Amino acid sequence: MLIDIIAGARPNFIKIAPIIKEIKKRSSETSNLKYRLIHTGQHYDRNMSGSFFEQLNIPAPDFNLEVGSGSQASQTAGIMIRYEKILFDSPSDLCLVVGDVTSTMACAITAKKLNIRVAHVEGGIRSGDRSMPEEINRLVTDSITDYFFTTSDVANKNLQKEGISKDQIFFVGNTMIDTLLDNSDKLIKPQVWLEQKLKNQQYLVMTLHRPSNVDEEEQLKRLINEIVTSSDGLPIIFPVHPRTRKNLEKIGIEYNTLHYVDPLSYLEFNYLVKHSKAVITDSGGITEETTVMGIPCMTLRNSTERPETCYIGTNELLGTDPKSIAPAMEKLFSGNWKKGGIPEKWDGKTSKRIVNYLIGWM
Ligand code: UD1
Repeated sequence: MLIDIIAGARPNFIKIAPIIKEIKKRSSETSNLKYRLIHTGQHYDRNMSGSFFEQLNIPAPDFNLEVGSGSQASQTAGIMIRYEKILFDSPSDLCLVVGDVTSTMACAITAKKLNIRVAHVEGGIRSGDRSMPEEINRLVTDSITDYFFTTSDVANKNLQKEGISKDQIFFVGNTMIDTLLDNSDKLIKPQVWLEQKLKNQQYLVMTLHRPSNVDEEEQLKRLINEIVTSSDGLPIIFPVHPRTRKNLEKIGIEYNTLHYVDPLSYLEFNYLVKHSKAVITDSGGITEETTVMGIPCMTLRNSTERPETCYIGTNELLGTDPKSIAPAMEKLFSGNWKKGGIPEKWDGKTSKRIVNYLIGWM
């Protein structure tokens, strides 16, 4: 059986690394299980792609579609045309997509139209917010997926509500956590730690990249002002996503305690998170990692497709109104942030479960 493993954007690389590692580890059992790694090139520079391949020991892609930057439609179309060509030349038996990025949806559609089965790792999660490109990617991908590898019982229920048969749903856990646990003793102190003389639990980490928070200058400015002024003078380390950079340069906000840095590598970023007092973010994946590390997390979004990070983990959804930030910071500084637990099957063995199923389907 030949499987195409698709990866295109930063969070995808973290999710595929342990699956590839597990396939390789079990090569004696899996000699009939061949894979090709297809990198769509949605993220392409060293900070967003190359360093993840190096640190997570992901082999060089068999194909790079080099789609690069563009609008939602042009990226989707570019990926579909280029992936279809590969499938015309040499079809695979299964297309395995992960997460919810443009590359996930584009490759799932392309494969399915050529009657190739689709497996979706992280299937079934829903934010309910159709203004987010990721939610459209999830809905479209799941509408044509054959095998759903899910991270939570909420995802299982979402799929069943949408009419998916139980025997297509495989509750395996979270591959992002496989990567986190596998690398927990390899984390690297980043340069900014030394430069800013950071101390354990005496700084905050912040990331913002959602179009709803960063594409409008006024919203971005209000969020940053509110975060800095309510953070008790603690240093705030802000690795800036390329999408956010353009508007930040226009706004030109400067504070003594706010430190902008380039996007960090995986091992450096998670070192910073692990030793921080709290994280402020609009990412989905980071809320899963902070839950497992037990670090308080404030999410600047109105909805989440990962509700277990809130009702089990350390995450709290603050919404996008900057006024909600100060009360949350007060709760943090008064020592009243919830402790949180770890969701079922987020145990580092998810890729093993996935590969067991793949072997069973050969
Ligand atoms: C994408 C995903 C989002 C994910 C995020 C993580 C979609 C719809 N969104 O959003 O779900 O959470 O990645 O990073 O797929 N750029 C660079 N260098 C790169 C890559 C991108 O400078 O290596 C620039 C692009 O030129 C573009 C901007 O970053 O201007 C945004 O990139 P894009 O791929 O459109 O989506 P993201 O906002 O990164």
